[in-house]
Amino acid sequence: MGSRASAEKMTALPLSRSEVFGELRKELHDDKEFHQSDAHIFIIMGASGDLAKKKIYPTLWWLFRDGLLPEETHFVGFARSDLNVDAIRTACMPYLKVSDSEVERLSVFFSRNSYVSGKYGEESSFSKLNSHLSTLPGGAQANRLFYLALPPSVYHDVTQNIKHHCMSANGWNRIIVEKPFGRDLQSSEELSNHLSALFTEDQIYRIDHYLGKEMVQNLMVLRFGNRIFGPIWNRESVASVVLTFKEPFGTQGRGGYFDDFGIIRDVMQNHLLQMLCLVAMEKPSSTSSDDVRDEKVKVLKCISPPGLSDVVLGQYVGNPAGQGDAKLGYLDDPTVPKGSTTATFATVVLYVKNERWDGVPFILRCGKALNERKAEVRLQFRDVPGDIFGGQCQRNELVVRVQPNEAIYAKMMSKKPGMHFNPEETELDLTYHSRYKDVKLPDAYERLILDVFCGSQMHFVRSDELREAWRIFTPLLHQIEKEKTVPINYTYGSRGPPEADELLKRVGFRYEGTYKWVNPHKL
Ligand code: NDP
Ligand code: BG6
Repeated sequence: MGSRASAEKMTALPLSRSEVFGELRKELHDDKEFHQSDAHIFIIMGASGDLAKKKIYPTLWWLFRDGLLPEETHFVGFARSDLNVDAIRTACMPYLKVSDSEVERLSVFFSRNSYVSGKYGEESSFSKLNSHLSTLPGGAQANRLFYLALPPSVYHDVTQNIKHHCMSANGWNRIIVEKPFGRDLQSSEELSNHLSALFTEDQIYRIDHYLGKEMVQNLMVLRFGNRIFGPIWNRESVASVVLTFKEPFGTQGRGGYFDDFGIIRDVMQNHLLQMLCLVAMEKPSSTSSDDVRDEKVKVLKCISPPGLSDVVLGQYVGNPAGQGDAKLGYLDDPTVPKGSTTATFATVVLYVKNERWDGVPFILRCGKALNERKAEVRLQFRDVPGDIFGGQCQRNELVVRVQPNEAIYAKMMSKKPGMHFNPEETELDLTYHSRYKDVKLPDAYERLILDVFCGSQMHFVRSDELREAWRIFTPLLHQIEKEKTVPINYTYGSRGPPEADELLKRVGFRYEGTYKWVNPHKL
């Protein structure tokens, strides 16, 4: 079905979730492999863990509930703990969002689940797992999807053991890997080499869950499905591009993990850089996975590693006047080493040195414990040349708000209505919850896991993309670590260090503070 027909349907009829997904599956994948074998087995390695409980089991349940998975799909958990399906069900329950009418369906879902306990480094455990997989209906023929919801320290052993003991001989095998994909270029290359010695690239699905978000996926349609944006999407018209990720909470409880990585590895090197690629890349020759990823790699190749002068690092401190956790700074977390200089905030300016973007700053900003939750892409356009309005016009901006409250708005000047001839700031506004009232947008993991079933790698990271992403950030990360660069303190709940705004200003982003949004949807 064409996209216009889908859009009409979306607004005209309150489609159920499964109808929307069903269309999506047909439109995007139209995939021969989906029913290659009737039986599929989804194996969750690390089934006892946090990610499995909070994300993976709930996502599988939603896909199953909505009838989006192949009919004969079974789910197998694997971990060290002595568990059973009932215990997993109890642990997952708070995250499954089950309505009263779905309780029976939930029981059917869990009847398709089983659990095997074993050690990640022990070959006999994987032989045991394989024997179990073979006993499931259609097991020996089944396509197998292995989700590594595990710490990277065990990836090596687990992937090796999967390869040697658990591959389906007759169906296909796909391995889903979660970030972090290494800590720097070298460790990432080691992991990539290890994986590529075991599996082919088309068997490896590296998840960056930002690629599963509605508005991130929309970037390609916005750019390449509209005539109005194409001619201005370049250095002639764009003054700067700002990619933002903000969270209003700190790292409490995750400090141990976070301290080893820091905000650049946690968010910037992956989520923000992926968004940059979609904003900056040339039009791919088709929407096939490799054509899209080829273009992303080309853009990354045009970016040089940033130097420290292009960077502002911050670390949050408690706000004595704040409520609850806001009183606590990063260093107050007992799981964070004393005196840690790990950044919880970073602004980094990158330049894409090609014909389209030369000289345009791409400003990546991300931080924890800030004033709001927000992820967005913002293109700020240049001043109108030859002003005739006495300096009253502000720059246009096109904002794609990824979350919360998905929206696309173009900030623009318009004549002040009435007996005036003055320009005033206003916007063209596509707010999703007003425009698409009855559409429930799927969670990023739902889309991505469905993509793995369908064999679509467009929204997954290829090894050469990953290599380029690490090439860009590794020199900076090493320098920060070697020199123990001290981050600037900012208060929990603030916008981050003012030095970051100064950097934005220095590279040409202009903030006037004059734009006031009047919510037209509020009576
Ligand atoms: P603003 O003018 O408030 O902000 C523009 C940009 O400037 C943001 O990137 C902001 O960053 C940054 N900024 C803010 N203060 C400073 C500063 N002191 N120095 C440098 N940069 C600064 O406009 P917005 O486009 O953000 O819109 C204002 C509000 O209107 C928002 O809450 C927006 O969500 C709402 N709106 C909603 C729409 C919708 O729902 N459809 C449509 C249009 C607007 P930072 O993020 O760090 O503050
Ligand atoms: C993860 C980061 O990749 O993304 C977390 O490790 C971050 O630190 C999370 O909180 C944000 O995801 P989302 O979908 O809530 O924006």
